[in-house]
Amino acid sequence: MPVITAPYAFNEGQLFVDLESICGRPLHLKCEGFNFAGSIKLKAANEMVESAERDGLLTPESILVESSSGNLGVALSMIAASKGYQFLCVTDSRCNLSTRLLMEALGSEVHVIADQDSNGGFLGTRIEYVRQLCASDDRYLWLSQYTNAGNWRAHYRTTAPEIADQFPGLDVLFVGAGTTGTLMGCARWFRQWHRPVRIVAVDSVGSVAFGGEPGRRMIPGLGMSMRPPLLDESFVDEVIRVEEADTIRMCHRMARRGFLFGGSTGTVVSGATDWLARHDAEDLTAVAIAPDLGERYLDTVYQTNWLQDLYGDHVLEDEGLGPVTEEVEPASRTSERRRRP
Ligand SMILES: Cc1ncc(COP(=O)(O)O)c(C=O)c1O
Repeated sequence: MPVITAPYAFNEGQLFVDLESICGRPLHLKCEGFNFAGSIKLKAANEMVESAERDGLLTPESILVESSSGNLGVALSMIAASKGYQFLCVTDSRCNLSTRLLMEALGSEVHVIADQDSNGGFLGTRIEYVRQLCASDDRYLWLSQYTNAGNWRAHYRTTAPEIADQFPGLDVLFVGAGTTGTLMGCARWFRQWHRPVRIVAVDSVGSVAFGGEPGRRMIPGLGMSMRPPLLDESFVDEVIRVEEADTIRMCHRMARRGFLFGGSTGTVVSGATDWLARHDAEDLTAVAIAPDLGERYLDTVYQTNWLQDLYGDHVLEDEGLGPVTEEVEPASRTSERRRRP
């Protein structure tokens, strides 16, 4: 029976979902959403805060500041509340409403950036905003998840060995790439393991993390509008890119089987399923990482109006995933609310 006194002290590390019946391929999904921060970012947040404390950078007077699309912001909000630090999160208009409200409920200040940078993302603008804050007052401490080695070290210490413990015959690992902290920590750890593991990075179309053309991306967490400073491509065997419409379809396919995951999990599972179909993968042991769960995305990924406005009326129809409410109860209030105006 785990009994804790601090909210960051519990993190389920051994839960995997066998997705074969959903994806039609042997694939296990490591679930990172079962902790009080609700995402994989708890690991990076813990590691970065503890190392700043050890180095004497973080004092009771400090005001933590971080640029985050949401999940790291929630994790830092929780840790800051528990340890008595102030925290200011700089996010952007793609951050889910519920995520912003969560940070505020935990006592953090949230600044929302609405101006896009030259790559069509918000990261450049967010980082510039954080820089200006830090220049304005010595009390601000920017952990900088984009450059902080604690970000990848957290996964080197925890995520990768947790996978290896359960899958001693692992052949291929699919990891979504944002800051690439998860990717680099796992890739570095498996590079020195007893057997070769193919490391496949999953990015979204429109992200420039691994090069390529910038484009519209509406699902937060995965993808970057700049090259991630933590990324060392010599540890990555392959990069696959997933269209957001495919992400959406995979999220809904899993939800129809009762597994409500976050948007980036749809990206990783869609990319992994496609990869496994293209390779003769029946005998391969494959694992993918699910960074969070789906409740924070009810007003985006799982909301019919949002989907139709961004991806067209038929985004869910190809696989018979059209909105059930309209077909089953065409006259009900629920369907009226969900139908596009
Ligand atoms: C939902 C979600 N998926 C994926 C990622 C990417 O993880 P990483 O920054 O370790 O590359 C993040 C990071 O914030 C996230 O919040």
